[in-house]
Amino acid sequence: MILHMNLPERGYDIVVEEGCLKEADSLLDLDRKVLIVTDDGVPSEYAALLSALSGEPLVVTVPSGEGSKSLRVWEQLLDAMLSHGFRRTDAACAVGGGVVGDLTGFAAASYMRGIDFYNLPTTVLSQVDSSIGGKTAVNFGGIKNIVGAFCQPAKVLVDPALLRTLPRRQIANGLFEALKMALLFDPALFSLFENEDPFSRLPEIIEASLRIKKKVVEEDEKESGLRKSLNFGHTIGHGIESLQGENGLLHGECVAYGMLPMCSDEVRNRLLPVLRKLGLPDGVSYDREKVFAAMLHDKKAARGGVDCVFVRSVGSFSLERLSEKELFSLI
Ligand SMILES: NC(=O)c1ccc[n+]([C@@H]2O[C@H](COP(=O)([O-])OP(=O)(O)OC[C@H]3O[C@@H](n4cnc5c(N)ncnc54)[C@H](O)[C@@H]3O)[C@@H](O)[C@H]2O)c1
Repeated sequence: MILHMNLPERGYDIVVEEGCLKEADSLLDLDRKVLIVTDDGVPSEYAALLSALSGEPLVVTVPSGEGSKSLRVWEQLLDAMLSHGFRRTDAACAVGGGVVGDLTGFAAASYMRGIDFYNLPTTVLSQVDSSIGGKTAVNFGGIKNIVGAFCQPAKVLVDPALLRTLPRRQIANGLFEALKMALLFDPALFSLFENEDPFSRLPEIIEASLRIKKKVVEEDEKESGLRKSLNFGHTIGHGIESLQGENGLLHGECVAYGMLPMCSDEVRNRLLPVLRKLGLPDGVSYDREKVFAAMLHDKKAARGGVDCVFVRSVGSFSLERLSEKELFSLI
């Protein structure tokens, strides 16, 4: 299946197909210098396969984890391209999850003011969400995604076969982002989460989530309105996530905890059993004051209040500006 992202400046195809990595040479323009970025937790055969299909490949493997979304590692990628004579007509490919995608996308956006960027997501989170939409970034000064650029990929290849090597907790991590989209926009998708085994329905969940995200990005590419809804769960979630060293939680898990205070009682009562089914631990202990302080450092904290997304009935949302005091009471 091919979904087309319709954007005013440059639209692109999102190919969703079991086994499409093996067809990458017919789907992408790889007959040039191609920087292939992966991390050391992604099975190395995925980047090796892409490399074998490329004209002049250069594979760079970064350490897995959020720590690689840094200016230091971004500079390493620029250095690799420069020292191998990459020109403006060459390309960069991400083969990995959201970390590799955000990092490589930002390197592609900045090298020579922008070269072609292909995203080949290998986690559920990146296949349902982060690989499309053009947000690229690294973390800086202890703040997530604070330095980056909007850089739409030239094409995205979503190959669900690559998820077979992904641990169950990482699968659930991505499903929390899909669940977020279901709560905001799609009661039928939410029912699937409630009534079926989501782990055995990944292709359907990926397709439904991509369709939602595509529609949102087409309507509001630069996040001036509708796209803000996708921050549902992220305000408190990012606050929890930035205490990473203390709680060891994954991004999607933090978003899942962050959604709970932003729901009506009725929605929360339906959401809790789904979160348990996906394996989210029942409790997480954190220091409210520290989460609050981290949230106020976050980019969504604005003078005069913080924009928050609420879901009071499944499939719809409202955007409300909360005072710092009101927000603190929700944590
Ligand atoms: N750009 C966006 O719109 C957007 C949206 C949501 C999240 N994000 C970002 O995405 C990042 C999180 O992404 P993620 O959850 O994919 O994490 P990740 O990229 O860190 O990947 C998770 C782990 O899985 C391993 N892995 C990846 N693919 C694998 C595979 N097929 N088999 C086995 N192991 C594999 C990786 O080595 C890593 O250890 C965060 O930095 C977040 O800020 C970006």
